[in-house]
Formats: sequence, C-alpha cells, structure tokens
Amino acid sequence: MRVLVVGSGAREHALVLAASHDPAVTALACAPGNAGIAALAEQLGVDVADPAAVAELAKSWRADLVLIGPEVPLVAGAADAVRKAGIACFGPSAAAARIEGSKAFAKDVMAAAKVATAHSEVVDNPARLDAALARFGPTWVVKDDGLAAGKGVVVTENLDAARAHAMTLLENGHAVLLESFLSGPEVSLFCLVDGTTVVPLLPAQDFKRVGDGDTGPNTGGMGAYAPLPWAPATLVDDIVGGIVQPVVDELAARDTPFTGLLYAGLVLTAEGPQVIEFNCRFGDPETQVVLALLDTPLAGLLHAAATGRLAEHPPLEWHPGAAVTVVIAADGYPGVPRAGDVITGSEANGVLHAGTRRRDDGAVVSHGGRVLAVVGVGPDLASAREQAYERVGKVHLAGSHHRTDIALRAVNGEITVP
Ligand code: AMP
Ligand code: GLY
Repeated sequence: MRVLVVGSGAREHALVLAASHDPAVTALACAPGNAGIAALAEQLGVDVADPAAVAELAKSWRADLVLIGPEVPLVAGAADAVRKAGIACFGPSAAAARIEGSKAFAKDVMAAAKVATAHSEVVDNPARLDAALARFGPTWVVKDDGLAAGKGVVVTENLDAARAHAMTLLENGHAVLLESFLSGPEVSLFCLVDGTTVVPLLPAQDFKRVGDGDTGPNTGGMGAYAPLPWAPATLVDDIVGGIVQPVVDELAARDTPFTGLLYAGLVLTAEGPQVIEFNCRFGDPETQVVLALLDTPLAGLLHAAATGRLAEHPPLEWHPGAAVTVVIAADGYPGVPRAGDVITGSEANGVLHAGTRRRDDGAVVSHGGRVLAVVGVGPDLASAREQAYERVGKVHLAGSHHRTDIALRAVNGEITVP
C-alpha cells in the first residue's frame, strides 16, 4: 500500500512514523512534511489548502491511501477531491468537516443528537455584545466562530478582558461565540469513524495554556499524555455511546456521513461529560502519545476506516503503559514565533518535528511556533514523563520554551472527576 500523508506538523510526523512500522506499507510520502519527516518519507511539495492540487498529487504519486492531517484542507474539500479521483482517503468531506469548521453547525448537530454541550450564543453585532455578555459569566468563554488553530479562545473571570477579546474579533469581521463555562478535567477522545462504525482510541489529555500551572494564553497544545489513570472505567464507553455515536448517526442521517477521525474535546463536569468542541482530524499533540501506544498497524486500520470496513477490523491492540509528550515552542509563541534558529539533538528517538526545516548547509532550523514534540513512553505515567523530560533536556533551541508540568498532576494523583 502506497500511503501519502498531507500536512507538516508533529501530528503528521507521528502518523508517518506509525505508518512506517506497518508491514503493509510499501511506499510512504508526506506533503509538504518537515525536516524530521523527510528521514522517513519522500517529501513532496503541495499547497495543502488547494483540494485539486492535493488530489492531483495523490494521483501522480499513485497513492492507495491518503491521510489528511490538518483541518484546513479538510474544510476546503481535499478529501472529496481525493475520493473523486478514485483514491481511498482518511478524512471527512467538506460537508462533514463543518463539525469543526463551523461552531454553529456543530451546535446544531449536537442539539439534534441530544448531546450535552456548553450553552452558547453567537454575536455578530457589537451593539448586542454587552447584553449578551451579561447573560454569561463569570467565568466568560469567548471564541472565534471560525477556525482559529486553538488560539481564538479566551477564558477569563474578567469582564473587561472578555469584552476586549470579543471586540477585537468583531472588528476583524469574525463572529463571536460566547459559551457557558464548563468546570472539570478535560479529555480528548479520538474516534475512528467509517461513516457508521465508531472505534475509539485511548483517551488523552492536552495542555492548552502556554505556561506552567495552566497560565498564560491558549496555544495549539503544549503537551499531552495518555491514557488517563484517573478516568472512570466506563469513560470511553460512556462518551462513545452518549456522544460520539449519536453525532455520527446524526451526520449520516443528514447525508453527510463522517469518515476519518472524529475528535471529541470534553469536560467531565458534575453532570457528566459535556462537549467543548469537535474536531474533524487527529489532535496535535495528543496524536503523538496515542499513536506511540498503538500496536495495531496504522495504515491497514485507517484504510479500513476510509473504505467503510471498520466493523470487520480486529480489535485494537495497545502497548501497555503510558506516553507523555512535551512541546518545545519557539521564542514568541503563541504570538509571532522567531524562525531560523539552529536546533541540535532533534534527530534523537522520540523527537517528532513540527515547525522545522533543513537549511542548505544541512542544519535543522526552527520554522514555526510549535517546533518539536518530544515523546516518552514507559510502563507507567511517571516513567513516561521522566523519559519525555530527559529527552527534552537533550534538545537545544535558542530562546525556546516548554512547559515543565505536563502530566504532573495526574502522576501526583491530583485529578478528580466531580
Ligand atoms: P477550544 O479551542 O474550543 O478547544 O478551546 C480551547 C480551550 O479553552 C479548551 O481546551 C478549554 O481549556 C478552554 N475552553 C473552551 N471552551 C470552554 C468552556 N465552555 N468551558 C471551559 N473551558 C473552555
Ligand atoms: N490538541 C488540540 C487540537 O488539536 O486542536
């Protein structure tokens, strides 16, 4: 099987790495890839936001399976274009990807599927903002109604800060989504979906804030771990039965069946799991830990999902133990990151590349906000965490920063479900 991965982050590096271990894979390419991925896969150029270009590349490279990593090509219709070219594609149609691309659509699907989610209101007129803010908070949750790479969200106890963020979005022509604040530990559950059948992967937890102790602005994700030692035994079944399957059924009933990875971002509240958001693709950085523990060959599994055969696939096999990933970010991230700094130690085991590129002189240099995701695996969460940080210590990137407390509260048994 010839497998083409589309994207250029640490998530795509994790996908390529897992696919490279699948004996069914005869050729592997990534477009556009990065300096780390280039060691494992042929690197091809493409504008990921151009569905026709993605499909053309898949045809000319003679791909048997295309895995689309990021949301931007999916929302733009890349999976539709690839499937139209007669090639199996792991990723939803543009119509189904609206579950991530439009928060209003996601809320409508969830209401129809009777799935618990934060109460919300869309504000697109500044004259209505103050009255709307008065119906929420404290704490206020203010979001960009469109795609924002995880950075369009402000959660604050300060009404002025909430108003200021909403005004900035409105002034830039973006509709604002106000949401009720959900309190409890967060869970990311990734589910493989082939239109009808749902196969959950291990639950993970992501760290969205840039600073230790969950301080500072939101990012795309600064670290993750899996599985969740504190999770109730029935958690995954409860989320699949009560949330993911009803949403998959609702999308199928609307004639926009979902094929690919449906990512449920949830808060475990006192009233049970509630949805913060759905994403239409693997999450980053949770993918790096979930795939580090998956023993089932990846390409065969995703091919089964892409071709409606998940129900026939044998049960998933997992490596025992836990995995932790720590993101190393460039100076300035999540603001404007500094690029072009030389990285050393980035070719070691467990180091996945995101924003990197190889310079003409051979040096690997930073080329994005999140630069590397360093993964540790161990028989338990504490040892996985130790290995991840030991590996982080061997990487050097001038001006970089990373969180030092990824998975720490879980290791210390400090997370409780209300
Ligand atoms: P999102 O980009 O929608 O995933 O939001 C980013 C982060 O903001 C989430 O991972 C949560 O930590 C936080 N967040 C978003 N919505 C809510 C909510 N309704 N209640 C509490 N926290 C939220
Ligand atoms: N880990 C958050 C995301 O991928 O959106």
